Amino acid sequence: MEYRNNDPGAVQYGNFINYYEFNNAEQRLKLLPRDVWLETENIPSAEPYLVLDVGCNAGDLTQLFYKFLNECVGVPRNRKIQILGIDIDEDLVQRAQIGNECAPNVSYTRLDIMDATAFEEVNEYLRQYNRHSFDVVCCFSITMWIHLNHSDHGLQQFLQKLSGIGDLLVVEPQPWKCYQTAVRRMKRAGDEFPLFSELVWRSNVEECVQKFLEKELGRKKVFECLPTRWQRRICFYR
Ligand SMILES: C[S@@+](CC[C@H](N)C(=O)[O-])C[C@H]1O[C@@H](n2cnc3c(N)ncnc32)[C@H](O)[C@@H]1O
Repeated sequence: MEYRNNDPGAVQYGNFINYYEFNNAEQRLKLLPRDVWLETENIPSAEPYLVLDVGCNAGDLTQLFYKFLNECVGVPRNRKIQILGIDIDEDLVQRAQIGNECAPNVSYTRLDIMDATAFEEVNEYLRQYNRHSFDVVCCFSITMWIHLNHSDHGLQQFLQKLSGIGDLLVVEPQPWKCYQTAVRRMKRAGDEFPLFSELVWRSNVEECVQKFLEKELGRKKVFECLPTRWQRRICFYR
């Protein structure tokens, strides 16, 4: 179970201030494959390799991911990696900006991806590069927070919209056990997730996410990592 001895308290959006003390970014990165990042190895391209990291928290994973991608598609293939990290939490984004060792290739901005105008800002970023989509859109450990705060329909819209702007979609959904932990912590803090009881996607939520991506959005799962220390499965969809 997450945070076994050291309860981080209740948060509404997964905006833990000390997330990386608990969920080691290096360990998760080691699970990532090196050969799924380009669809066709043979097509040479000098275009920047664009990545959107949704829910980047304080940027620890984003920074390491930038270095990792450089080894996979940057250095050997002459692609410049550009990552845009976004997060709903102003303070976390500020910390990510201060700790950014990879500017200007990595940048961070505060954005609630569920805001009606969020995609305008993301599309504005793409326009700088004359592009309509990112090479990769990452959703590491964020689906549960979207789900708890925006219900089934909100999570479906989230997946649909991000799928529309990403060639490769990387999703690390939280299993149901994590929902129960989040709800319990919130209750202990005297609050609740009011939409929790009405969720239809429940005990098999990871399967629901996968089915939706495959059946409704026409995505194909091309890789699944070994489970993380928290028993989460990072899945790759084209
Ligand atoms: C549990 S953390 C995961 C951080 C990072 N993706 C990782 O796996 O290392 C979830 C992050 O998603 C962010 N988040 C939640 N809802 C969001 C939203 N609607 N828009 C943007 N970010 C959001 C939270 O602030 C939090 O930093």
